[in-house]
Amino acid sequence: MYSHSSKNNQEISPNDLKEKIDKNEDIFLLDVRTPQEYNSWKISYENHKNPKLIPIDHLFVDSSNILKEIPKDKEIITVCAHGNRSLIAAKLLTQFGYNVKSVSGGMSGWNKVADIAEIPVPTQFPFQIWQLRRVAKGCIGYIIASKENKNAIVIDPSNEIGEYFLKVEKENGLKITKIIDTHQHADHVSGVSRLAMIKESETKSKDSLACFSSYEEYDYSKTDLNNIKYLNDGDEIYIDQKNCIKAVHTPGHTNGSISFITKCKPNDKNNPMKNYLFTGDTLFVDGIGRPDLRDQADLFAGTLYDTFHKKILQFPDDTIILPAHFNGSSIILNHKVPIYDTLGSIKKKIKLLSMTKEEFIKNIIDTLPSRPGNYKEIIGINKKMISFDERIMPDLEAGPNSCAISQ
Ligand SMILES: [Fe+2]
Repeated sequence: MYSHSSKNNQEISPNDLKEKIDKNEDIFLLDVRTPQEYNSWKISYENHKNPKLIPIDHLFVDSSNILKEIPKDKEIITVCAHGNRSLIAAKLLTQFGYNVKSVSGGMSGWNKVADIAEIPVPTQFPFQIWQLRRVAKGCIGYIIASKENKNAIVIDPSNEIGEYFLKVEKENGLKITKIIDTHQHADHVSGVSRLAMIKESETKSKDSLACFSSYEEYDYSKTDLNNIKYLNDGDEIYIDQKNCIKAVHTPGHTNGSISFITKCKPNDKNNPMKNYLFTGDTLFVDGIGRPDLRDQADLFAGTLYDTFHKKILQFPDDTIILPAHFNGSSIILNHKVPIYDTLGSIKKKIKLLSMTKEEFIKNIIDTLPSRPGNYKEIIGINKKMISFDERIMPDLEAGPNSCAISQ
């Protein structure tokens, strides 16, 4: 169901490329797309922030000068959009004596690569939390597991990295009991339906594995799921007997957006537990969720303001914020290094959070970035909770995360 493979020995799979980067191998990344493609979306991971760009036509037209820019003593890894131009470039460079491999699937293949980081928690905290990050796309999902009974809840898995959630489950002896979307995503296809179907068939469970916000609009007519639970504000989802996450309706990015706050019984009543808040696309570590993906930006921006001031900012400053995206242009993802911050620190960073409602709405409307590609089509898929034709995926989700407004 999930697979990554390379077609021939001149190619390297995106996962193997990531492994080379994680091991700090001495490689030279060479992007052979156009400057326009490169500037809109490129590999940016660990110490490879700005791969060398040489469009493929330059390699053919001006090879004697251009070749001086490519080191002979390193392994060269070529990349393009889908792995075709980069394979041609790899073959050409091989003829000039280079040791070259082309990334199979190109940026579309790289878009399926994830990195896993564990969130540090105090020893007495009853849960372990893993953060699963789509390296290229900037999507973040989570697994929260009880240390006591190993039951686990998944939040915001994206379809393209579903296998990584199963890997964390298997490697840590967990049992996934609920799979939740914080909201109907517009930039990537949700993995809730597929993961829930896999778990439904494995466990023959009649429990509701897939959970969605009761405040979003869904089209139930064609869903593949047998069991669905709809979550309301205040619902508590217990992971073990004493400890749960609690749903907090936080509309604004979408009408139905829900955040989840951990609610754990302290062993010592005088020493309350620190809380972890899963904010979906409502609040990021250096930005906020855009309110215009349902085409009513003014209205949604006002709602988002109320969500911040009446709900999110009411949590204690030491609450740990765990968002569903990171901004690849401001944050370089590092292997196994989690992305999070305290609410108090985020308040100081994001000016929008200290504005009046009028200023907040005006600033947002004036600075809206371009919307994610194919966002209406992606919302349409997520609305139906269906499996879909995998062949549409490579281009459907191309491009970086653009769900955030940073100010
Ligand atoms: Fe979103």
